[in-house]
Amino acid sequence: MSTVPTPTPMPTTTRIDADGIARSIAAFAALSEPGAGVTRLGYSALEREAHAVFARHMRELGLEVRQDAAGNTIAEASGRRPGPAIGTGSHLDSVPQGGRYDGIAGVCAAMAVAEALRERPEPTNLPWRFVVFAAEEGARFGQACNGSRAAAGAVSQADLDRLVDATGTSMSAAMTEVGLAPREIETAAWLAEDWAAFIELHIEQGTVLEASSTRIGVVDAISGSSRLQVHLDGVASHTGGTPMHQRHDALVAAAECVLTCERVANDLSHHGTRVTVGRMDVLPGSITTIPGRVAFTVDVRDFDSERQRRTARMLDREFTAAAARRGVGYRSTVIGDTSPVVLPIGIVDTIAAKASELGYSYRLLPSGASHDAQQISRVTPTGMIFVPSIRGLSHVPEEATDPADIARGAEVLFASMLAIDEAHTSGGAGE
Ligand code: HGY
Ligand code: MN
Ligand code: MN
Repeated sequence: MSTVPTPTPMPTTTRIDADGIARSIAAFAALSEPGAGVTRLGYSALEREAHAVFARHMRELGLEVRQDAAGNTIAEASGRRPGPAIGTGSHLDSVPQGGRYDGIAGVCAAMAVAEALRERPEPTNLPWRFVVFAAEEGARFGQACNGSRAAAGAVSQADLDRLVDATGTSMSAAMTEVGLAPREIETAAWLAEDWAAFIELHIEQGTVLEASSTRIGVVDAISGSSRLQVHLDGVASHTGGTPMHQRHDALVAAAECVLTCERVANDLSHHGTRVTVGRMDVLPGSITTIPGRVAFTVDVRDFDSERQRRTARMLDREFTAAAARRGVGYRSTVIGDTSPVVLPIGIVDTIAAKASELGYSYRLLPSGASHDAQQISRVTPTGMIFVPSIRGLSHVPEEATDPADIARGAEVLFASMLAIDEAHTSGGAGE
């Protein structure tokens, strides 16, 4: 679909201040482990501190704020009457040495919308909720979106005990350590009747908007992901004393697996599939010892859920055969599995109409990254607004987005939520 040209700007309902957004971005970026970029992992003390900054800001605006058993922070502005709420928000955790906009842009936009709401003379019809989801990134525990997955009622106590990070700490232990209640995770589930709609603003994490000089992305589908943790057990031995034909080199077996991922993802039947080996641990990691053990992760992304799972199973079979040929032991576990979703056309149309009314060029596009909105779309009609990523970079310290673009996105977000608020009350569209 091509970019819709910029119509003559109409008077806008609310201007969002880009400088205020930039200040909020910088404040959250300061909450990081030392090193390049931002490191604020899910269920870390730093993530909790960032949630506390958000909660304090929302209380200062006069909103009620609560935290659920999964560590999600939810602020509420009441409407004329109680009833299903309209929500927005995103996440504040990051990948290791990531950027300062992934998730944070959506939270800062939500804060700006809450401020704009307070300036309005009359209350909204419905309650509005501003949410920061916990542990959206799968970087620490493999499974992504734990907070929003809990809101969708899709997390069990057993999941929290089973998922572990690189140090062997389980998600439930990490949650307990920061004062959360993993044993009450089921209480974090949202009820569909408590929600009218949810819209998440997020950086695009790709190059489509920048390459087409488009200001606003209206997301119509979100990619799924299946993730594997693979272990190869060969024979560590002396690099000088062991002839090539006597080796069971776990790293060479892993290298064959990595190239298999690339070959499968590039074959003609996999257009749209993306496969990545993002983390690999090699033991004993000595120059003069043949690697005996290798562990690596596989991230399979697709918009076709059946092909996504089929690809993960195919890779598992091919890895098994490659390891057997080399006399290397093999085992794998599924550490994450999320279906792709198509977002409801009523929300997509509302966001597109508001971008157009505000005079911002926009285009529909799918999201290659996964998001909290994917989980929330299982509870209530959900939409996403993308703002451009500079050079398409994300999950790296160079990640960057112009605060003015976030402000424009927040204006579209605010106008879309108002439209749903008005339409919902009169029983109109918006779903
Ligand atoms: O991994 C992702 O797609 C997202 O950034 N959590
Ligand atoms: Mn994100
Ligand atoms: Mn991310």
